[in-house]
Amino acid sequence: MKIAILGGTGDFGGGLALRWASSHNIVIGSRDEERAKAFAEKYKRVAERLYGKEMEGSIIGDENFQAAKVSEIVVFSVPYKNLIKFTRSIRPFITKDKIVVSPVVPIDKDGESFSYAPYLLSGSSNLPRYASAAEVISFELKSKRIVAAFHTLPAKKLCRLEVDLDYDVIMAGDDTEAIKQVSKLVSQISNLRPIYAGPLKTSKLLESLTPMLLNVRLYNKMGDLSVKIV
Ligand SMILES: NC(=O)c1ccc[n+]([C@@H]2O[C@H](COP(=O)([O-])OP(=O)(O)OC[C@H]3O[C@@H](n4cnc5c(N)ncnc54)[C@H](OP(=O)(O)O)[C@@H]3O)[C@@H](O)[C@H]2O)c1
Repeated sequence: MKIAILGGTGDFGGGLALRWASSHNIVIGSRDEERAKAFAEKYKRVAERLYGKEMEGSIIGDENFQAAKVSEIVVFSVPYKNLIKFTRSIRPFITKDKIVVSPVVPIDKDGESFSYAPYLLSGSSNLPRYASAAEVISFELKSKRIVAAFHTLPAKKLCRLEVDLDYDVIMAGDDTEAIKQVSKLVSQISNLRPIYAGPLKTSKLLESLTPMLLNVRLYNKMGDLSVKIV
């Protein structure tokens, strides 16, 4: 599978790239082509050291638009600020057949605590007044093949390949086939378990778990947290 990780120069996208490179062809995307290539080279060295001869995938780098254009799955690993502008800019390169994965968490800091900050949209009748990042992406791309996932996976642990991720990845989306494909990708990362939580309109619930976890971490002086449903 060819997977573009837009903003893959950040910790979160880098972690996904390293985890998937054993069996998939990864294209690290960046606003800057040279930066994308430099990060891809760095990740490739780490992945080759870890997987050795068993590595069946690859990691290359390219500018975001080109990365999206050549890939079947496109992960939006970019900050929530400027998401609408970013999504509009990438729209011509994301055809309707591609699956788009959104781990994007709209988050604000309110004093020392964290809060969920969904998009307040005015003048749009097709969206709820407050929209999740995944709903915004779906609306701007005019695509149903958006899967909201990975919001509660801490980048620091994802990047450390020796860490066994015994967590659940809760997902939302409207397209059954897209959910199936992303579930498969989730299952290919150590102990992660994919769990479907409903259509894309429920994605606000998933995105809001992250500020909750960050507050639990803050007020209880804990390390990076994730979720497991029992
Ligand atoms: N960090 C976590 O633990 C974690 C966990 C779950 C979900 N997430 C979500 O995953 C996404 C990525 O997280 P991250 O921590 O890796 O983020 P990040 O480091 O802040 O940003 C990732 C990359 O996005 C690009 N970028 C920055 N500003 C941009 C803009 N205005 N337009 C387009 N691209 C821009 C940058 O790449 P270039 O400069 O190379 O273009 C940057 O390296 C976020 O939406 C976050 O909410 C993060």
